[in-house]
Order: sequence, then structure tokens, then C-alpha cells
Amino acid sequence: MSNKTQKNKHIPKEIQKRIEELRKEINYHNYRYYVLDDPVISDEEYDALMRELKRLEEQYPELITPDSPTQRVGAPPAEGFLPVEHSVPMLSLDDAFSEQEVKDFDERIKRQLNLNEDIEYTVEPKMDGLAVELVYEKGIFVKGSTRGDGYVGEDVTPNLRTIRSIPLRLIDQELPIPELIEARGEVFMNKKGFEELNKERIEKGEPPFANPRNAAAGSLRQLDPSITASRPLDIFFYGIGLVKGYEFKSQWEILNSLKKWGLKINGLIKKVKGIEAAIKYHHEIAKIRDNLDYQIDGIVIKVNDLKLQELLGQKARSPRWAIAYKFAAEKAITRIVDILLSVGRTGAVTPVAVMEPVRVGGVIVRRATLHNEDEIRRKDIRIGDWVIIQRAGDVIPEVVKVLKERRTGNEKEFKMPDTCPVCGSKLTKKPGEAVWRCPNPDCFPRLVRSIIHFASKGAMNIEGLGSKVAEQLVTAGLVRKVSDIYKLQLSDLTSLERFAEKSAKNLLDEIEKSKNRPLSKLIYALGIRHVGEVTAQLLARHFGSLDALSKASEQELLKIEGIGPEVATSIKKWFSDPKNIELIKELKELGVKSAQSPKEIKTKTHELFQGEFFNNKETQEYQKISLEGKSFLFTGALKSMTRQEAKDIVIELGGRVASSVSKKLDYLVVGEKPGSKLEKAKKLGIKIINEQEFLKMIGKEELLK
Ligand code: IVH
Repeated sequence: MSNKTQKNKHIPKEIQKRIEELRKEINYHNYRYYVLDDPVISDEEYDALMRELKRLEEQYPELITPDSPTQRVGAPPAEGFLPVEHSVPMLSLDDAFSEQEVKDFDERIKRQLNLNEDIEYTVEPKMDGLAVELVYEKGIFVKGSTRGDGYVGEDVTPNLRTIRSIPLRLIDQELPIPELIEARGEVFMNKKGFEELNKERIEKGEPPFANPRNAAAGSLRQLDPSITASRPLDIFFYGIGLVKGYEFKSQWEILNSLKKWGLKINGLIKKVKGIEAAIKYHHEIAKIRDNLDYQIDGIVIKVNDLKLQELLGQKARSPRWAIAYKFAAEKAITRIVDILLSVGRTGAVTPVAVMEPVRVGGVIVRRATLHNEDEIRRKDIRIGDWVIIQRAGDVIPEVVKVLKERRTGNEKEFKMPDTCPVCGSKLTKKPGEAVWRCPNPDCFPRLVRSIIHFASKGAMNIEGLGSKVAEQLVTAGLVRKVSDIYKLQLSDLTSLERFAEKSAKNLLDEIEKSKNRPLSKLIYALGIRHVGEVTAQLLARHFGSLDALSKASEQELLKIEGIGPEVATSIKKWFSDPKNIELIKELKELGVKSAQSPKEIKTKTHELFQGEFFNNKETQEYQKISLEGKSFLFTGALKSMTRQEAKDIVIELGGRVASSVSKKLDYLVVGEKPGSKLEKAKKLGIKIINEQEFLKMIGKEELLK
């Protein structure tokens, strides 16, 4: 006897049978409704079946299985998404924009296969959503993930379960079910659902999504599945990954089998012979595109025969047997307000047009690449010009044409500077090349590092701005100095890869919050050589504002206890660079707080304690605690506060925070699960104290009681 039946011994057989029947029936009606778009019962009848199943499951909860149609929502919010490695990489597709490119694709295939006759293709609408993979084991949906980088995606199983058109269990009426099948498809939000969702969001004061694709991605990547459940998501399946226990011969067979198993496929797919027929299909779909209730950005043409697909093989990231034939790029008219330069990873310096925001291809854009100086000359693009821009798919928008008839005479010609906008190095250009480059190999990494430091916990503490985002911001030319962080807008962020509306909004909120950090944090964030957290604190206390600090002479700096000649020289040097003065001015103009009264410094330094560090509570003889001259190092997790908070307090009280264990260290504060620092400190005979003892030193013992 199996475990299951043993456990369910006391439940009447008829009940078990009825529950199973109901599930099968509901599953079938889902299939009729979602996949075949041909329901055979009314909504009321369907609801009655669901109600009966729910009632029985409530009575016999031990019979609930994860694939029961009642079990779509219910998983608790997750802390993050786990990575999922795809057993077969999820490739992307090469794009074609013209008939000629599609014909070339067909020619290449015939050449490679040494065939003269027409090739059979499947032609499918190219959905504009996000790719996912769903694993069905013995017909049961067990795991679902996003495409990610094609090799590793994110586990979004609980979220996918909430999508009504995704069966939790496959149908096995017409075709046997494979032992395992990885079904791939595109999750999307239909146009109506998108409009309604945005209307609701605007009413609630939340920012609307820029397009259905962002809305779908943002909805699927929710930590709380109940939010995903509330969003009108849908799916079309178009392919497979790994399959065990089933052999397919063609793409057409794959699509039709998926459909028979209850996986929804697009009703507009076709099988055609010869590339001309595929091109005709493209024209037909382009005509009805606007009438469809979901967004598509082209068609996908795939060689139908899987044997031929295998012979053709694949390139690094895309197969040779398929191509995306995109619809013509969407165009819009806007005005160029400025031309900036961005420095890329390879040192290439690219001019970027900053434009009045405009909606094109479903998203709002503010920037367009101008490629290089020659291109600007060739198209005669000037600052102030009205231009036609275009955007195709995910590609960064570009300027197609200047509307010269709209010129007023106030337009300014753009002159390529001869120095790097980031590091000031003289730019170089190889003969015959159009691209100017910054020859300084440290330029891009240094800028990225300075942004990471500026946003780090001990500095401005901008959550969500780590190394990956910093790199993205610099590469896109959005941030060329730290003050640019405060100029970022929602549309800048949502135009970056893998930035959904929600994460973009969160980052903007964090950036906004950081404007009011204590002065010491801002000074530390600037990344002045030799100015660590302790020195920054000293400087903040002494000068009270960035302005006053910037004007200080070396002598004045040297008068501050704890500041030596090397530090003073470094500070002076930093503030005598006009670029840095400009940076400070900009930060101030952008609303970053750069001054604090002495009182504020005392009370704001540590938000948790409001600066009240006094001893002797019993006798009421308050005396401010000082940790002056003492150095501390922390290891392991503290219970009463974060490590950053503990560090802030030590600094606030005049102490020093060491970066490693050395003979000079006075105290090692040991929290839970201490690291190797503990062993080292023991060897060196350093005084080791626990959290309670530390709290006693700062007069806050009550925090651990
Ligand atoms: S087939 C190896 N078919 O387009 C072939 N993809 O650029 C891989 N997409 O990641 C994809 N509709 O998100 C295929 N009918 C369709 C599609 C489709 C939309 C998306 C999918 C994929 C991207 C490739």
C-alpha cells in the first residue's frame, strides 16, 4: 500500500473519487476556455464545480495536492528568487527588418542544407512579453522560471501558478503525456488589462507602467504571488526545452501537441512553404496588428523540420533555423535639448542626445544614441533641433533625420571635446576609425567604483545601487559623475535592461531619501583620498557644511585633532579641482543636504539613538560618553543593531573603527557566528568583548534586555 492511501485510509473512497473527478473536470473546462477558446459550460456551472471541490478539500485537507485547481494562490511572499539553470539554453533570435534580410536568411539555409526546393516554415506572431520555461513532470507543473540570461533564470513557480491559462496538470486525453517536458512560452499582459491596471495605479497614486511588456515583467517578478495573481497575465507557448519520453518531428507537431496537452498556443500560427509565403504572412499580420488585443513586435519564422533544424545548428546565442522578422521601427518627433558624452567599458566615447521625453514604440524615451562625431556631421544634428527618432524593439533609439525646416537659427552645433568627460584624459582616435576613445584604462572602472562607493552603506546608503546597476548607468551614459544619480528619472531606469517599473521606482525613492543623509556621510561618500568614515565625521563636526570645508586652508585643517599633513593635503587637493567644486554645486542644486548645524550633527548622526549617549542613569549625573582614542572592530552578527549602526555609534562617540585585526586594535566586539577575526584577535591577545559589554560601554545596555 502506498503512503498516500495509507494516510487517507479513513476517507471514504467515493470522496476521493469525487475530488479526483472534479479536478479532472475543472481542468478540462479550463482547457476548453483558455486554450480552445470554446467553453462548453456556463460560468455559473464552472463556479459550482469549483465550489464543490473547495468544500470537499476544506473537509478533507489531507487530500489537497499542489496541482489541484484550487491551489493557484497561497504561497507566502518570498525573500528573493532562486536561480534556475536551464537544461537547454534559452536562445534568442536574430532580427530582420527588411524583406531582403529575410530572403538572405532563406538563401543561407538552402546553401547550408544544399537544398533547392522551398523550405517549409512555421510562422508565428512574435509576442512582446517575457520568456519563461515551465517544467512538467509526469504531467504535473513542478517548476517555472524566467529566461534570465538564457542560461540561468529566476524561479518564479508560485507566480506562474497564479496565471489561469497555465495548467497545473496537463490533459492526457488525446496524446500520451511525456515523462518530462519543459514548455517554453511568452508571458504577456493584454492591452485592455494593461490599460485597466494603469488606470488603477494612477488612481492610487502609483506610477503607471510604460508598456504591457514592462507591466508583465514587473508583475511576474513580484515576491508576493498574491500581487501577481491580481494582474491580468496570460501566456502563449511556442517551443520546448528538454523532453523525456517523447519524440517530435517538427515545430508544427510541437505546437499542436502542446495545445493538446492544454498549453495555450497562439491561434494565428501557420505552416507555409517557401519564404515568399512567410513574407506574405508578415504583411497580413502587420495589417491586423493593431486589432489584436495583445502586443506583438513582428513574426518568427522557424524551419519546421526538426532534423533540418539540427543540421543547421546554432550560433553563440541564436539558432540558424529561425529569425524574427520585426515590424518597421516606430518613429516619433521630438527636440534635442543637449548632447552628452558617455564613456563605455572599452573606453569608446559616444555622443548621446538628450531629448524632450517622447513616447515611441510603447515606451517613453529621453535619450538617443548619436553613434559618433562623423554621424552627427553627416546628419547635421544640432542642439535645439527637432528630429525624427526611431526605436525598434529593444534597440536604443536613434535619430533618423533632422527637421531642418523647423530651425530657428538658435540651434547650436556640437563640438566634440578633446578630453574625456569623466577623467579628463586626452581622447584618441585611430586613423580611419570614427570612434574617439579614452585611453585611460582605469576611467570606466574608476567611475563605476566611485558610484558604488557613493551609494554604499557607510556613505549615502542608496539601496539597490550596487555594482551591476552602477555599471549599467555608466554604460548607458546616464551617470558620468555622482551628482547625475540625482538627475535620474523613471524613464531612464525603465529603459535599462531588467529594470521593471517597480524596481525603478524603488531605486528613485532610495535616491530621494539619500538626499538627507548626515553631512559626515556625504563627505565620506565623495571618496576623497584618506578621508574615511572617522575623518569625515571630524570634518563634518568642525566645518558644519561642505562650503566651509571646501574653503578651508591646509593650516586650518591641520588644527583639527586627528588630521595629519597627508590627509590635509589630500583634502585641499580635492577641493582645488574645479570639477569637484562644480560637483558640490550640482549636488546642492539637486537638493542634497550639504550643511548641518552642530546641534543637528550631535543629534542626527545616529538616527537610532538620537545622539543621546550618556552614562550614569541612576545618579542622573549625565556625562557624555566618549570612546576617544579607542579602536573597535566587529565580527559576527549583532542582535541589537546592524554592524553599520554600531560602527556609526563608535565614530559618533569619537572612537575609531579598524578595518582588520592588528596589535593596535583595542576591542574586538564579537556577535553571533564570528568569523576568523576572533581567532586572530585571540592570538594577538586583543581584548575581546561581547555585544552586551559593548552596549554597556556606550550606555545602552537596555537594548539587549
Ligand atoms: S522562439 C530559439 N517563438 O522572442 C528560439 N520566441 O528573441 C527561441 N518570442 O526569448 C525563441 N514570440 O521571448 C520564439 N513565437 C515565438 C516568440 C518568441 C516571442 C520571444 C521570446 C524569445 C525572444 C527571442
